[in-house]
Amino acid sequence: MPRSPTATHRPSRRQFLVAAAGLALTPALARCVSARRAPAFLQHVSPRRPDALRLACIGTANRAWDNIQEVRHEQIVALCDVDSAYLERAGAAFPDAARTRDWREVIACARELDLDGVVVSTPDHMHAPVTRAALHAGLPVYCEKPLTRTVAEARAVREAASRAGVATQMGTQIHAGENYRRVVEAVRAGAVGRVTAVDCWVTKSWGDGRLTPGAVAPATLDWDLWQGDGPKVPYIEGIHPGNWRRYWAYGTGTLGDMGCHILDLPVWTMGLTDEHVASAEVFAEGPPVDAVGTPSWLEVSWAMQGVPAVGGLDSGAPDPFVLRWFDGGRMSPFVQEIGAKDRVNYHDRFNVCFQGTEGALFANYGEMLLWPGARAAEWKPPTVSIAPSVGHHREWLQAIRAGRPSETLCGFGYGSRLTELVLRGVERYRG
Ligand SMILES: NC(=O)c1ccc[n+]([C@@H]2O[C@H](COP(=O)([O-])OP(=O)(O)OC[C@H]3O[C@@H](n4cnc5c(N)ncnc54)[C@H](O)[C@@H]3O)[C@@H](O)[C@H]2O)c1
Repeated sequence: MPRSPTATHRPSRRQFLVAAAGLALTPALARCVSARRAPAFLQHVSPRRPDALRLACIGTANRAWDNIQEVRHEQIVALCDVDSAYLERAGAAFPDAARTRDWREVIACARELDLDGVVVSTPDHMHAPVTRAALHAGLPVYCEKPLTRTVAEARAVREAASRAGVATQMGTQIHAGENYRRVVEAVRAGAVGRVTAVDCWVTKSWGDGRLTPGAVAPATLDWDLWQGDGPKVPYIEGIHPGNWRRYWAYGTGTLGDMGCHILDLPVWTMGLTDEHVASAEVFAEGPPVDAVGTPSWLEVSWAMQGVPAVGGLDSGAPDPFVLRWFDGGRMSPFVQEIGAKDRVNYHDRFNVCFQGTEGALFANYGEMLLWPGARAAEWKPPTVSIAPSVGHHREWLQAIRAGRPSETLCGFGYGSRLTELVLRGVERYRG
């Protein structure tokens, strides 16, 4: 249930939360923590609406703006962005929201803002710091994918979420769509017979980030705050917005960007566990590793022992079960071969291919195709067993209201597993 609308200021508790959240006591934070004098951004904290959750949104443009649209029927009480142009634009749409450039002020002043949850849509390097601080302060969190930038961070966030016991959701919204549910059901019901391997791919490429000496940050951007607690470097031309994905310091290339959406389908269908992911033998191939920029292409495979048979028990479980990833123009040899025979471009249309003893199933975010055609003609889809979602963001909002964290399907337990799988591939490549 939402907290009391009349939050009172309790310096000692706030001191405790800030310390627990591991936040450095900057002057701005100190104001919120100990002074009776509120920081400037708290001057317009709006009163609680009786029927709405009070949310803070960290990051306001691009994907962040999409997320804001999904929760805007609740009460957006704080907006945070390191780019003042974006912050002003979002602020114009939510004039009652408090605004700041520094996310630490939001978490430190959670009680003054009377927050019920935080939406984190920053670049990937800031996911773990913001999310961990919010969880340590006892706040429900919606965080974009990938949940973190490193495997160690993914495990730490999983641990923090489990300790906090609050509603969480990672931003893999395709999980809530209809198609993934029906693919999971079809493959589990034997559409391809027993699953032997799954190939996944994406045609795009987020690689080749380079430093650009002499570049000047946009006047509206606080480059220091954007960089977070990592080493401070001169501005890199074009990195903001979006192109941070091409740099190890801030993102994890194409696999990191797209892997959580696409590998979600085999992870869900095969019922992979944290243990399967942590113990997978990982192989990775790409161009020579660069210290600064992510690769223009990558091939990764994960070999997992002990994955239960899915889709049929004819000759036991695959041992190991092999999951493969291709990006930046690399292609699955299996998909290439049958595409050439059929004269069909399966590669450009789909992202996932389940291979089994009786055939194959291609899928993307919105459609599936059973192969070969004869198999498709005889196949009868199973009755629906996975109920439609109320919506990815709504799952999180409902879970907050109900006080039932387990009601989100991509909570940080599952989200960190998916993220760890992806990042084990990235880290294997980096060596
Ligand atoms: N779920 C999806 O389909 C989907 C799609 C696109 C992006 N994403 C994810 O969303 C996140 C953002 O991606 P994007 O492409 O919108 O990035 P972007 O660089 O275009 O936008 C990031 C936003 O966050 C702000 N920001 C940056 N650092 C900040 C900080 N420290 N504090 C507050 N605000 C900060 C930026 O100014 C900007 O408003 C990434 O994690 C990305 O992986 C998810």
